[in-house]
Amino acid sequence: MSNSPQKVEFDLDRYLRNSKKVDLSGIDWDRIRDHPLTDGDVMCLHYMMDIEAHTVIYLRDLLATRAAADPQITAFLSCWVYEELWHGEAFSDFLRLYGIEEPIEPRLPDGSTPLPSRSNRWRDLRVSVGVGNGLGLVPTMIGSALARDFVAIHMMWGAVNELTTLTGYYALIRRSDHPVLHQLLRKVIQDERRHFAFYRAQSKARLQRSRTARRMVRWVLKNLWTPVGAGVKSEEEVDALALYLFGDSPEGREHARGIDETIADVPGLEGLTIIQDYLDAATERVRKRPGWAGITPTPAPRRSDNGDGGSRVPAHWRESEHGRPDVMPATSDVERREEERMADAMRTRA
Ligand SMILES: [Fe+2]
Ligand SMILES: [Fe+2]
Repeated sequence: MSNSPQKVEFDLDRYLRNSKKVDLSGIDWDRIRDHPLTDGDVMCLHYMMDIEAHTVIYLRDLLATRAAADPQITAFLSCWVYEELWHGEAFSDFLRLYGIEEPIEPRLPDGSTPLPSRSNRWRDLRVSVGVGNGLGLVPTMIGSALARDFVAIHMMWGAVNELTTLTGYYALIRRSDHPVLHQLLRKVIQDERRHFAFYRAQSKARLQRSRTARRMVRWVLKNLWTPVGAGVKSEEEVDALALYLFGDSPEGREHARGIDETIADVPGLEGLTIIQDYLDAATERVRKRPGWAGITPTPAPRRSDNGDGGSRVPAHWRESEHGRPDVMPATSDVERREEERMADAMRTRA
């Protein structure tokens, strides 16, 4: 079995040919200010914007590993990082049109925002961040003889990141009443689906063929895994997000269970419950330190009046008028359940 060729269940050719910036046509940008966001929603959007925009740093860490020697992986990463950049920009635009931009970023003479937006924010964030996450510890812990199997760790880590991101977007749709945010998240979810499918297919193929890889990946996830954003965000911020999206209700817990079930479906990872374990640990931190990660009411987000009047539609999105032919259906049970839940909610709203 260990010498059988890897079979990767992902149509890479199709993905590469269709990769493009997220198509945000049809989103009611003009109506963003018509609906309120809660403080928790804003926290999530800041977090998501920062993590999406941070992807290139994650890529840097990934390219420093043996993954860089695999042309399939590097081809995917080339398109993936581009798509993630536009997710960050989409959340940035959303927040700005809602009226949140701190610090105020430079404007062009016509009042528009030069790209990439929020350059001051990203610079500060990156200066303060060294290695992106707990995975940075791994190279010093595992010998280079295992380098090939080592790529499986990165692929599985990526799969977990994409799946938690994607499920987090569903959870934010569930938590927030903002209809335009729903529209935006639905679009971004489409991209995250393809990302997750690639990483899952890569890790599955690598884990199927190697017992060493199965053991290593299992050990790493169990002992070193941290949620996407850890390292960029403080532990309290990560806890706040995790609890807001997944720890608020039985539905939230259901999301977490769904992620764990999907991960446990990968060879060698049976029975792992890393998301629920993290949630339990975060809940325990709150219990020990009242006020920790509190999503208590804070002053309503300041709707800064910085000249764009709140109604200027980011025109650069209009370039993406056409959808992608490689639209992908839900990738796991957790997604399928959410799709049904959302369809119900939309029917009710209508
Ligand atoms: Fe993304
Ligand atoms: Fe992604």
